[in-house]
Amino acid sequence: MTDIDESTWQTLRTAAREVMTRAYVPYSHFPVGAAGLVDDGRVVQGCNVENASYGVGLCAECGLVSALHASGGGLFVAVSCVDRHGDPVMPCGRCRQLLWENGGPAMLLETSHGIQPMTEVLPDAFGAHDLASRL
Ligand code: THU
Ligand code: ZN
Repeated sequence: MTDIDESTWQTLRTAAREVMTRAYVPYSHFPVGAAGLVDDGRVVQGCNVENASYGVGLCAECGLVSALHASGGGLFVAVSCVDRHGDPVMPCGRCRQLLWENGGPAMLLETSHGIQPMTEVLPDAFGAHDLASRL
């Protein structure tokens, strides 16, 4: 299932837990941290940032994807998202789409029931190939 070793998952979990402590969550009080290993070896992080206008709050994965591009781009190969307890939290539907775009089908996500590829996290995903085949 995975060629990412346990020490790499440990690194990602630690990075996700660290950035989770910097989440801005005055409304939900539900901090989330996300860390991703990029295909060139970088590790990037993101935390959720809420807003008085609740609906425009940013999930941790939004910050993660922004950090990916801001630091040079590339593709995620493995991602960990954690809650305040440091336990895995499943990305919302929108964030699954963000991870699909920036990690592709082979990207691995640590979940509460083990490591899953994006093909299981977001089955039958809509993606760039759908646009290409319907122009
Ligand atoms: N949240 C994330 O950061 N990532 C997700 O994919 C799930 C939800 C955040 C959004 C909001 O700030 C808080 O968790 C409660 O929903
Ligand atoms: Zn989300």
